[in-house]
Amino acid sequence: MSDLQALETEITAAIEAAGDMAALEAVRVASLGKKGSVSALMKSLGGMSPDERKEMGPKLNGLKQTIGEAIAARTQGLRNAELEARLAEEKIDVTLPIRPESQGTIHPVSQVWDEVVQIFADLGFSVAEGPHIETDFYNFEALNIPPEHPARQEHDTFYFNPRDDGSRMVLRTHTSPVQIRTMETEEPPIRIIAPGRTYRCDSDQTHTPMFHQVEGLVIDETTHLGHLKWCLEEFCKAFFEVDEVKMRFRASHFPFTEPSMEIDIGCSWEGGQVKIGTGDDWLEILGSGMVHPKVISASGLDPEKYQGFAFGMGIDRIAMLKYGIPDLRAFFEADLRWLRHYGFSAFDVPELAGGLSR
Ligand code: DAH
Repeated sequence: MSDLQALETEITAAIEAAGDMAALEAVRVASLGKKGSVSALMKSLGGMSPDERKEMGPKLNGLKQTIGEAIAARTQGLRNAELEARLAEEKIDVTLPIRPESQGTIHPVSQVWDEVVQIFADLGFSVAEGPHIETDFYNFEALNIPPEHPARQEHDTFYFNPRDDGSRMVLRTHTSPVQIRTMETEEPPIRIIAPGRTYRCDSDQTHTPMFHQVEGLVIDETTHLGHLKWCLEEFCKAFFEVDEVKMRFRASHFPFTEPSMEIDIGCSWEGGQVKIGTGDDWLEILGSGMVHPKVISASGLDPEKYQGFAFGMGIDRIAMLKYGIPDLRAFFEADLRWLRHYGFSAFDVPELAGGLSR
């Protein structure tokens, strides 16, 4: 084997053996670099006789080219391997959940809101909505609360500045205005619930300036007090997830219902924790009654023909009762530790078939 062939074999072996770009570069410098072995041979051409040069010139050029090509091929090989390794390492399984653990929780108000909607949907109710900024007519007047009525004082209303005509908009103090709006726009039979935000200028352990209510309304030609009792009994059993709930229908007064009842549920206290359903204590959970004929006619329906019942319930309040949450104000403080403790998994969607709260 000639020296040149031996050199070629040696260098191409070194090229093949180079495990990374740095090693390959070292081989290139040692052969084709300024002081490399092949470059030194190229330089020696100058000192040769014309005949020698004629013979050696093409051979050396061939060697240089072979080595250059081998280096180029190895470079490509190393780059491909590098890319393969990166692709393998950075592989993403797109079928995995976005986060290994879900970080957020569903707020107890949202959870209870969904539970209430589920239960009443099962009883044939649909969900209605109304604006949070209301006129005096919808919030009071049409609900049989005229301007001088004492019930207005109890509502701690947030009023907006007077408009040009002197009238003032209010932040709705209850969800009852949705009753009027629904009767105005829908033909009986009507069967709706209206969950939503309500506002009163009040703040302590059990009151916040913004809170949540759910209104219920059933209007047709035959619905009576017995239906009201049955419906709310069914609701309480489903909501508190117990087979029997002791209930007390207590005579009361609301301007928009006649007769009116407040509903209490039986409970007992064990070690500071309330147990719903049985026991000798009572907890008030909602107001209700047969819709006042004046309210029906204020909504544009004929009270001689139509009748029905309505109820109103605090969503935050029943959330506190069901889930043993002591302070209402914490609901709206956005404290992550509180949310982690009292919140619900986003995957546990409340539904009657699978269990409301699991
Ligand atoms: N709107 C009442 C309140 O905020 C609650 C209420 C009571 C609503 C009786 C009703 C009802 O529909 O019939 O205090």
